Amino acid sequence: MIMNKNLLRVEKYEPEVEALLSEVLEGFSSRQKQLPCKLFYDKEGSSLFDEICALDEYYLTRTERAIMKENIGAISNALGKNTLLIELGSGSSRKIRLLLDSIKNPAGYVPIDISEEHLVDSVKSLARDYPGLRIMPVYADYTQLVKFPDFEFPYSRKVVYYPGSTIGNFSPSAARRFMKSIAKWAGRGSGLLIGVDLVKDKAVLERAYNDGKGVTAKFNLNILKRLNRETGMDFDLAKWEHYAYYNTDKNRIEMHLRSLAEQRVHVNGSLFSMKKGETILTEYSYKYTLKGFKELVSNFFAVEEVWTDVDMNFSVQYLRVL
Ligand code: AVI
Repeated sequence: MIMNKNLLRVEKYEPEVEALLSEVLEGFSSRQKQLPCKLFYDKEGSSLFDEICALDEYYLTRTERAIMKENIGAISNALGKNTLLIELGSGSSRKIRLLLDSIKNPAGYVPIDISEEHLVDSVKSLARDYPGLRIMPVYADYTQLVKFPDFEFPYSRKVVYYPGSTIGNFSPSAARRFMKSIAKWAGRGSGLLIGVDLVKDKAVLERAYNDGKGVTAKFNLNILKRLNRETGMDFDLAKWEHYAYYNTDKNRIEMHLRSLAEQRVHVNGSLFSMKKGETILTEYSYKYTLKGFKELVSNFFAVEEVWTDVDMNFSVQYLRVL
């Protein structure tokens, strides 16, 4: 299936359906019902996310890209030569191209993604366009990875690339734990190039998560479609609506699915009743101040460089493992 010589076999750490079901059951047992946001990213959800990234209202992707382009010289200097790049949640592996075009002799690229089809499609085209680059795709839920796979080639430094402000989808305590595990996987002296969305005007934030074309709504509802298909649940999609708002006290966007009627849903033999107006929390998207983010990571990383746009909407940061 994989034909290019530089594209190594896909490492797989396949998530199990039972694990998925137990997470759903656990999330449905709390007072505020919730679903893990990683469930967004099946094939359809991953394409919808790509669509979101191209929306006018969703300033994050284009602002991050502009910051990267504007500062690419300084960023590649920070990353160094002969670096092994490991991307968490590589999706369509588009962002990495900018780095691959500018860093000196990258030792290899390890994209890790939770959507196997998306991963395979995107690495194939990357392998074609970068014939000298060793690519070792990993199909896994990177939040569950306890260690990196063994890399069979030489490199001078590991740099984890974690763009898109995905760190904002963790609660601050989970983000701290996750930062700790990245630091442990990667080891002292390794780098982390990370995109972090910043606190800003509520209206701008709410527009970004309530786009006019309804793509974000579709992305949110797709989680129910997926659960029906993969776990045999019986959500009636017509009875749910997308609901997203900025919680100013907590500096986070909250994305929910709101029940439009009194209804019941079966989960693996259990029955859950939902009231009209009741919500299922599907995602938090935390926004940080530069100071707040520095504090969050300070036990594990030194913040070496911070690049932002002039309006301070978004930041790209280079951190070194302590
Ligand atoms: C992947 N993550 C950073 C996105 C975000 O902005 O929190 C996911 C997303 N949810 C709705 N739109 C985009």
